[in-house]
Amino acid sequence: MKAAVGNEVRDIKAVWFEDGKVVMIDQRRLPHELVLTRFDDYMDVREAIRNMTTRGAPSIGATAAYAMCLAALKGCDLEKAAADVQSARPTANDLFYAVRYMLDKLSGGADPVAAADGYARLTIEKCEAIGRYGAELIEDGMRLMTHCNAGALATVDVGTALAPMRFAHAQGKRFFVYASETRPRLQGMQLTAWELGQEGIDHAIIPDGASAYYMSKGVDMIIVGADRIARNGDFANKIGTMDKAIAAKHFGIPFYVAAPVSTFDFATATGADIVIEQRPEEEVTEVAGIRIAPRGSKALNPSFDVTPAGLVTGFITEKGILKPEEIGRVMG
Ligand code: MRU
Repeated sequence: MKAAVGNEVRDIKAVWFEDGKVVMIDQRRLPHELVLTRFDDYMDVREAIRNMTTRGAPSIGATAAYAMCLAALKGCDLEKAAADVQSARPTANDLFYAVRYMLDKLSGGADPVAAADGYARLTIEKCEAIGRYGAELIEDGMRLMTHCNAGALATVDVGTALAPMRFAHAQGKRFFVYASETRPRLQGMQLTAWELGQEGIDHAIIPDGASAYYMSKGVDMIIVGADRIARNGDFANKIGTMDKAIAAKHFGIPFYVAAPVSTFDFATATGADIVIEQRPEEEVTEVAGIRIAPRGSKALNPSFDVTPAGLVTGFITEKGILKPEEIGRVMG
């Protein structure tokens, strides 16, 4: 993705490895400032996943791969490092997939940096394939809707839900994107709108609660990302995704999920078995550290919900666009 770093517009990724350190964009500071942070200890990288310095399932996966790379470079116990890194957040399948990938490569004697860089590069290539397949669904003049951030920031580069939009835009198609703000962490407002703005894609931020209203006025297609997709096609994504899928069904709007095969969890039969991360209630009750809720009211803060497969029109993957009943085709 292109972004201004200081006075310079650079082509940068969400996370990479440079001079012995893992470098990542601090996504908590966007869109106000683009700050890069550097880590050379795998436990600090784990903390960056936990506290959402970096976030989004495929970026979490690549960051975990780099954490394992640091652990290997420093001669740490890799089984312990794997358990530490995997405990950073529970829902994104890519975190677990990437750690398994690295254990496999490292046990085969691979160079740690080459293995982690290879994982990140593969992630980008998958997103490019998702972009090519998904762009075919986008027609001139369409009104699209997305939720949370499933763009370059969430996937090292390019994006999943935003990849078809990037490719369609590059092909000269004109379309409009509704980006829902995504309370409480505001990934839609602060990250998706920032990315669409950098690309010059026409868009508007809407409150989460306005999604069905705009669908009733005319939305042609919804594309979201995913954190974990069960074998039957039920999938976890940012809280509020299921509301959109239900409303889309009501209004007859195609609802697509864009995700690489690394997000599919073939060991999990249905969405009922997906672990949903519960985040601190202060994320709901406070804004910029100031309490806005009444004293004494508690808050609940599930980070994800599980949308039933029956509400999904198709999964846009690097292997093509699959109906929920076709998921078996990509099982490795
Ligand atoms: O809590 P986050 O910001 O990590 O949640 C991110 C999402 O829910 C994304 O939609 C999902 O990871 C897909 S990213 C391509």
